[in-house]
Amino acid sequence: MTILEEAAQTSITKILIYLCLPLTVAVVFWYMIGFSEDNSICHKNYDDGGKVVCHPACPSRHFCIPGMTECRPWLACQDFQSVHFRVGKLIAKSAVKMVYQAEWKGHTIVLISLANSEYRKDFLHGLDMLTAFQGSQYVTQLLGSCDDSYVTEYHRLGSVKNVNRILQMSQYKELNNIQGRLGLCINYAAIINYFHTSPRGTRVMCDSNYLEKTLSQYLLHDDLSIVANDLDALPKIDRSTGLLIRCGHRQIYGDFPAPEQRWPYNDHNFTDLEMPPYDEKTDIWKIPDVCSFFLDDVPGSDGVRFHLFKIHRQCKEHSPDLRPTAKEVLETYREVHRKLVS
Ligand SMILES: Nc1ncnc2c1ncn2[C@@H]1O[C@H](COP(=O)(O)OP(=O)(O)O)[C@@H](O)[C@H]1O
Ligand SMILES: [Mg+2]
Repeated sequence: MTILEEAAQTSITKILIYLCLPLTVAVVFWYMIGFSEDNSICHKNYDDGGKVVCHPACPSRHFCIPGMTECRPWLACQDFQSVHFRVGKLIAKSAVKMVYQAEWKGHTIVLISLANSEYRKDFLHGLDMLTAFQGSQYVTQLLGSCDDSYVTEYHRLGSVKNVNRILQMSQYKELNNIQGRLGLCINYAAIINYFHTSPRGTRVMCDSNYLEKTLSQYLLHDDLSIVANDLDALPKIDRSTGLLIRCGHRQIYGDFPAPEQRWPYNDHNFTDLEMPPYDEKTDIWKIPDVCSFFLDDVPGSDGVRFHLFKIHRQCKEHSPDLRPTAKEVLETYREVHRKLVS
């Protein structure tokens, strides 16, 4: 071999080592991350011995629910009217909507119908928000819509109101401890953070004037992860234009809502127009009460409450500007959780 040929061979080897090898490693990594995190959604099924069940993450305007292996386009009017679609029992009823259990091709789903045309605006706002946030792990899966109705994934464990009862069941005992319960606080703060920094701007979870009401807007997956479900009152704040909000048009009472949500004048009666508007920090005020409900009084909850004392006190600052952001609350929760498990 000539010196020239030898030099050429060394160069090729170097190119192979320095360029191709890292490139191959990067491609393999990208493939692995892409497929394990982005392309499938997994939940542990505690009713089936903790078996992990995965389904593919779907492209826009498609869905996949447990029992399906492939994504399919959202159901449209012809599907709602087909023989494969059956409406079942009424699950809940409010001024705005009727919530029914339904069946489509053997899958249990949920049908939500407008209850009163006076509330069409709220109903359609909820549907618009649900549509906008599809693809997020923090929001119920939409399966399609037709006129004044839409369908969503069925969550057999129901709303977050039930969580303490569910945690008593034997199959969930592995989650019924302080780590699992702080996990619920983390999940809740992550949802609030998602809405405060959402692709559709800073959104406030308005339909939350008392604890039970707040909890009823969120549903539980089989693995007890939480998703936001009722998005009928999610107005937008815009700091750059000074746009603030009021939650509804009625007077708000009680200690659960933030102080700035209450009527501030003693000398005259409430009028909607005179009510000073406020921002997303009302959601922050409510976080400690929701988290406290999750922590309950299991062993270790006193210690965790002690570690959360400072951040929770800050959430309860009278002045909204002094309250932390949802991201700060979330980071503190995660920090305390890390210490608990280490
Ligand atoms: N997809 C669903 N799976 C299971 N239960 C649901 C589902 N959607 C709603 N529900 C039940 O219906 C209740 C009311 O739903 P929600 O969307 O908050 O409507 P509204 O408050 O307008 O009546 C929830 O708290 C929950 O108990
Ligand atoms: Mg509701």
